[in-house]
Amino acid sequence: MDHRSFFEQNYNSKNEFITRINDIDIYIKREDLIHPIISGNKFRKLKYNLTEAMAMEDPTIVTFGGAFSNHIAATAEACHMLGMKSIGIVRGDELGIDFENTLTHNSTLRFAYQKGMKLAFVTREDYRLKENMPFVENLKKSTQNLFCISEGGTNSKAILGCKEILTSADDFDVLCCSVGTGGTFAGLVEASTPKQQCIGFSALKGEFLKQEIKKWTQKKNWSLQTNYHFGGYAKVDSELIHFMNQFWKKYHIPLDPVYTAKMFFGLFGMMESGLFSKNTRILAIHTGGLQGIEGMNKYLKKKGCQTINYH
Ligand SMILES: Cc1ncc(COP(=O)(O)O)c(C=O)c1O
Repeated sequence: MDHRSFFEQNYNSKNEFITRINDIDIYIKREDLIHPIISGNKFRKLKYNLTEAMAMEDPTIVTFGGAFSNHIAATAEACHMLGMKSIGIVRGDELGIDFENTLTHNSTLRFAYQKGMKLAFVTREDYRLKENMPFVENLKKSTQNLFCISEGGTNSKAILGCKEILTSADDFDVLCCSVGTGGTFAGLVEASTPKQQCIGFSALKGEFLKQEIKKWTQKKNWSLQTNYHFGGYAKVDSELIHFMNQFWKKYHIPLDPVYTAKMFFGLFGMMESGLFSKNTRILAIHTGGLQGIEGMNKYLKKKGCQTINYH
């Protein structure tokens, strides 16, 4: 398959049975297997964005993310595959002070840079302005055919792609996925039938995510579970790391610490507490993001904590 058709394909990920707890069956949709870096929701979110960009003459893709962003890594890899120029705007101007040092210590940014992405580090204040920040305003003036993809890749084209996660064969009672900006979950909700119940597991603190999700879907068959953020975005503790390592030992499925591990931890907790009726069939989406494990392990090691171990 050539690189263009990789992004144009209709990918149907397989569902694997994980386990039965309290007479409830849980399955996982292995979206993580689509590609090592452009995995899970990254493929879904980039698909229609990059298809549109491919129709432009010599486009430059610009996008946004944090220092360990799966989206930055995936966009860099995708643009490299398609021969497109890319710029990643990264939150935190302190990372730009000693660029070499940042690349040495941050595997995500090093990967993006090696794939040819230009990196720009901006202050948190500027970053909040997103597409309206002065740096992007200047880029718009100076760069022909600039194609902007918003933070985390969430926009209307991304939702369209995320709807394709679900197929008509996925006749489960409950559908679950992790929530960062809300785009992936909104796509899942949009693709669900009214009889299906959708549960989003927030990977960060804050009720504001409900409003974000409502921007993308009018449907009402969903709820947001906000008890399993482990202190906030990219925060972990030894219980979560232990859970991930046990999950690997039992099911041979790697989870990422920022998103999918928190969802499964929460979901197992809900199943054990009897929150679902008997014989409910649950499908949880593995949204990928495994590239972030290296960075997380470096951080955990430095702190003298238990690391994620998938050997
Ligand atoms: C692996 C992974 N899972 C889930 C999410 C959450 O997706 P969204 O930002 O669309 O809510 C992200 C972030 O984009 C992610 O990288």
